[in-house]
Amino acid sequence: MTNSSDRRQFIKLGLVGTAALVAGCSSDQVHKTDEVGPPKRILPGKGPIILSTWDHGMAANAKAFGVLQAGGSVLDAVEQGVMVTESDFSNRSVGLGGLPDRDGIVTLDACIQDHNGKAGSVAFVQQFEHPISIARAVMERTPHVMLAGAGAERWAEENGFARKDVPMAEDARRSWEEWRVKNPQPQAAGDSARVNVENRRSGGKDNHDTIGMIAMDANGQLAGSCTTSGLAFKIHGRVGDSPIIGAGLFVDGDVGAACATGTGELMIKIAGSHTVVELMRQGIAPEDACREAVERILRKNPGMTGQQVGFLALRADGAYGAYSLYNDFKYALHSATENQLMNSAFAKKWE
Ligand code: GLY
Repeated sequence: MTNSSDRRQFIKLGLVGTAALVAGCSSDQVHKTDEVGPPKRILPGKGPIILSTWDHGMAANAKAFGVLQAGGSVLDAVEQGVMVTESDFSNRSVGLGGLPDRDGIVTLDACIQDHNGKAGSVAFVQQFEHPISIARAVMERTPHVMLAGAGAERWAEENGFARKDVPMAEDARRSWEEWRVKNPQPQAAGDSARVNVENRRSGGKDNHDTIGMIAMDANGQLAGSCTTSGLAFKIHGRVGDSPIIGAGLFVDGDVGAACATGTGELMIKIAGSHTVVELMRQGIAPEDACREAVERILRKNPGMTGQQVGFLALRADGAYGAYSLYNDFKYALHSATENQLMNSAFAKKWE
């Protein structure tokens, strides 16, 4: 399907409903990527469908898919899916096993949003295994959207979440200490962003980032979640895009959902995930909407190099797409017929 025909098709959906398009697309039309180049157009699939960022998304998707199969809601699925990643203390970019901030403290950000736009979020919290569940509780049990820092921690304890102390792993401590020697007075967010990028490019265990998950159940209900320990060695108190509704995640059941990974400052400044959903609202195909958001970041930051950003988008009719600035962004896809790691389309190759 070309961009313009895809756009026309989506606009037409508003008139005739999604059934015709979904029925017209068999699962073998879903484009499979290869290791050689960026994926071509990804055609629509059917719900249930779960997309999540990076290779850690495979285990998270498996859990989320199981939740849907067992009759759980799509909100349960996106919460419990990313809880798997939060509980993996060998993960250095999500949960309590994450790399610490400049002061050697692990601080966590997370948010969740449902089909109707209800949202919950926590930022800059310490010593809780599942910030995503606290975010959901904020959504369901308070009149607010976002709690941060000591107030969020106190509220979490008052509401049944137990603190957990996970000692810093030896490799994480070594990385932090090496970084401190090299960066006695880091000046810019880019300092920590570069560390994450170097970690990814080293091809080691840290070649991933935030987990963002967007999902649709068999009835077309959407939800999303996002959770991270944020940029390694950030300034204590720094909050990234992941707990910010509209930056790291945005869901509008009438249109679609999007989530983001990479340097949070770049996402926040263009309200990245909201931008992707609004572009889809205008009839732009999911991958093209992600690409436009990445290109907007590039236009706003001329000369910027070495910082990754990536988006996933899932449209309300089941079409999906991904686009990143650099070529190493992978995402996990789980549908009724597919369960695999995909290469995102991208703007540039790492040199
Ligand atoms: N995208 C994660 C962060 O910047 O904190």
